[in-house]
Amino acid sequence: MSASRAAGRGRFITLEGGEGAGKSTQAHLLAEHIRSLGHECVVTREPGGSSVAEALREAILSGVAAPLGPSAETVLFAAARIDHVAQTILPALARGAFVVCDRFTDSTRVYQGALGKVDPALIRTLEDIAAGQCRPDLTLILDLPAKTGLARAAARRAQQAADRFEAEGLAFHEGLRTAFLDIAASEPGRCKVVDAAKGPDEVARAILSAVEARLGPLAAKADAS
Ligand code: TYD
Repeated sequence: MSASRAAGRGRFITLEGGEGAGKSTQAHLLAEHIRSLGHECVVTREPGGSSVAEALREAILSGVAAPLGPSAETVLFAAARIDHVAQTILPALARGAFVVCDRFTDSTRVYQGALGKVDPALIRTLEDIAAGQCRPDLTLILDLPAKTGLARAAARRAQQAADRFEAEGLAFHEGLRTAFLDIAASEPGRCKVVDAAKGPDEVARAILSAVEARLGPLAAKADAS
């Protein structure tokens, strides 16, 4: 068992990227693998992941809060994150579990910050309030061309209407891709870019090797615990 897990802290892994990148499929595949090696692994998502946050998710993604403007939406994402971190993520990490989270603070930096043009000082302040010391050990940025991602997202939702952010145009989604890649370039110690245009099995293998390169061999941890 590694020093930080012995001290009662698990590992916090976030998956980020644009629409249709396959984050939720990959979060579940990664969690299955981690569990198969004998570790506890909590899969969660944002916005959501706790009861208050799931209620706020409805308000945000339905578009009902959009007329309030991007700064107010940012506050709502932060409010949801406060509950999610306190109720779900921190307790799991305190037990020594792995937490795999589909979107976290980088989504706010990208959707509300880079694309929504919300004041960077507000983004930083809310990030500090909502996440505090709860920062990812590893962030996997699932990267693919915006067109491919939007086509996948449309196929996935079939007849349902696009949500608040899927409904934005191609230029917006290309901007998302660039902004996520900028974060990866500025924080190479935390972030790893994964080519998400490949098939799910190949993406899963790339994710696993990134996790082990950053956090150490998963099987060895199981043997030692
Ligand atoms: P979701 O249906 O979970 O989309 P995806 O499958 O693409 O993850 O919807 C989440 C949406 O919320 C997505 O469009 C990104 C957006 N979002 C933000 O704009 N800011 C945030 O801080 C978070 C967490 C998500």
